[in-house]
Amino acid sequence: MFRKLDILDEKEKVLRQVSKEVKLPLSKEDKKTIDEIITYLTYSQIPEYEKKYELRPGMGLSFVQLGILKRIIVIVDEYEEGKFDNYVVINPVIVSNSTEMIAASEGEGCLSVNREVPGHVARYARVTVEGYDVDGNKIRIRAREELSIAFQHEIDHLNGILFYDRIDKNKPFYTEKEMRLL
Ligand code: NI
Repeated sequence: MFRKLDILDEKEKVLRQVSKEVKLPLSKEDKKTIDEIITYLTYSQIPEYEKKYELRPGMGLSFVQLGILKRIIVIVDEYEEGKFDNYVVINPVIVSNSTEMIAASEGEGCLSVNREVPGHVARYARVTVEGYDVDGNKIRIRAREELSIAFQHEIDHLNGILFYDRIDKNKPFYTEKEMRLL
């Protein structure tokens, strides 16, 4: 059942392309890929499986990271130890955002970036995302804090943007005064 996914490295140029809108209903193949991503991301956040399958922990993946240029994102959020919420959004759009910005204090990571890139990435503290679920129903998700960062990071992938593109080269780190750091 468990298949280790071939996640593309940042050097692959396809990651810089803009993914295409998905026509609904979703194909069987896309649904299968979504299930595999959910399993992968969940296992990667469970220490026992992470070790067993030599996975890098990650909470989000977009289809383009598998070389599939479709606007589909998957986020598996460990909201409590050992408890996970899955978010799958097809054709996601940020329809509103807070004015308040935040950044992950440790910086961001990405399953396609196999190195440390130091620096803070400014993100909206809260976003509302609209799109469709796997059954083609319209959905709206309100995300805050770490989950908000994850949505913005994954939606960036659909537009060919990697997190470090947003790090200010001249001033890679914010102070607590300048930015609320998580
Ligand atoms: Ni990423």
